[in-house]
Amino acid sequence: EISVGILGTGKYVPERRLTNQDLEKMVDTNDEWIVSRTGMRERRIAAPEQATSDLAYEASLQALQAAGLTADQIDLIIVATITPDMFFPSTACLLQEKLGAKNAAAFDLSAACSGFIYGLANATGFIKMGMYKHVLVVGAECLSRITDYTDRNTSILFGDGAGAVVLGQVPEGRGFKSFKLGADGAGGDLLRICGGGSRLPSSEQSVNEKRHFIEMNGRDVFKFAVRVMGSAAEEALAHAGYTKADIDLLIPHQANIRIIQSALERLNLSEDKAMINLDRYGNMSAASIPLALAEAVEEGRVNEGDCLVLVGFGGGLTWGASVLIW
Ligand code: ACO
Repeated sequence: EISVGILGTGKYVPERRLTNQDLEKMVDTNDEWIVSRTGMRERRIAAPEQATSDLAYEASLQALQAAGLTADQIDLIIVATITPDMFFPSTACLLQEKLGAKNAAAFDLSAACSGFIYGLANATGFIKMGMYKHVLVVGAECLSRITDYTDRNTSILFGDGAGAVVLGQVPEGRGFKSFKLGADGAGGDLLRICGGGSRLPSSEQSVNEKRHFIEMNGRDVFKFAVRVMGSAAEEALAHAGYTKADIDLLIPHQANIRIIQSALERLNLSEDKAMINLDRYGNMSAASIPLALAEAVEEGRVNEGDCLVLVGFGGGLTWGASVLIW
């Protein structure tokens, strides 16, 4: 059987910073509350002319370059996002055009913050079955466009950015060893956007009632996240034949420092065993994990043969974990 792994990583964040001090002027909050409850200090915000495919494009160029491939060598593009440029065409098709990846099939994947791990699992399956050789998997978001900046419960959490990887064959012994994906649609109302879909089409009323912004039950999402981050990681490890003690680096979804700390506790890991960048970027949904991975690579925190565990959770509800030998 073919071993499938990561040939190159890339990332992009917009220039503009939204700090806790900026938020203090926008809603009734303060730096101390935000830092102690979330660990976040600033996020990046896309420029008015930028949309998700533009962020995805920059990250993808880097990933292609790191992999030593040209765009026409990509067979499939998967973009995980909850903030597509538009309903259709898909952001993956828009990205295909920007890259000139003329030989690639392309589709978007909707699994909220777990989308990147769902995308990796899809790509790995396609390559293992011999259908495709090189797959570009991107997590990209402009969450600032669906955030209500008068709501202190959500506006402090989210930011914009993109991360990308190219998947292909790697030497035996390396690559993805397991995936654990899950969903619980019963919790769908904890985290959602209702407006603009076929259930509640856009209207003056839907706009006035703010139905095009993220709605969130923070406390229940928090409880779900704490439960699922540890268990998904443990199940992915067991399926791969590894144990907690084998983990060299955890790449968690960047939703809240306290959620990451509880996962570390459950996995018996110290904080230096996790890649954490939510202080600088906030929660970028599907972009958080690939961007954290790209930064870990950039910072030299990932060495050949290391055991990485990628784990995330999000709207759906969904969750996903993977064991990756670098
Ligand atoms: N500043 C000051 N006070 C605030 C703020 C704020 N920004 N936001 C809420 N508060 C208040 C609340 O109103 C509440 O006051 P009350 O007790 O008088 O009602 C108090 O602070 C405590 O609120 P809690 O909701 O209990 O605070 P908690 O410690 O749970 O932290 C948070 C809230 C940060 C949202 C946390 O619940 C969390 O991180 N949840 C997970 C959210 C998440 O990960 N969402 C994204 C998932 S990924 C995706 O798919 C997009």
